[in-house]
Amino acid sequence: MNLRSEVKIKMDNKELLQEAMKAYQNAYVPYSHFSVGAALLDENGKVHHGCNVENAAFSPTNCAERTALFRAIADGNRPGSFKAIAVVGDTDEPIVPCGVCRQVLAELGGLDMPVILGNLKGDIMETTMRELLPHAFVPSHLKETQS
Ligand code: THU
Repeated sequence: MNLRSEVKIKMDNKELLQEAMKAYQNAYVPYSHFSVGAALLDENGKVHHGCNVENAAFSPTNCAERTALFRAIADGNRPGSFKAIAVVGDTDEPIVPCGVCRQVLAELGGLDMPVILGNLKGDIMETTMRELLPHAFVPSHLKETQS
């Protein structure tokens, strides 16, 4: 990979984080007051936005990452077909997905999907689901038990 293409990839990460910032503005967070935005890039280059959506009963709350993934699946995208997801929150270090979202990201995004994490200060960390959820429980484990 030459310098030019590396620079281009970094630009793409920043662009996807900017899309996540748009979703961040739409977060419904009357209880935590902690907004999170996500932007999921599909194989056709379309961005699916997600924000956290809270609820007075607390447990129905949906995180930004899962909102983006579920929207994209509902719009006809298939698990494993996504190019990358960017997530942004107001954290000291780049935000990291919760455990529940890691499980869903592993299945719908796949273990090798790039995960771009950011904060409002502009710090960026790029990782993958394989790094974020080692030894993940994935659909193939269920198939192993079928005769
Ligand atoms: N939250 C997300 O949306 N994504 C994360 O990666 C971490 C946590 C939400 C859930 C809840 O609405 C608020 O942040 C506080 O936990």
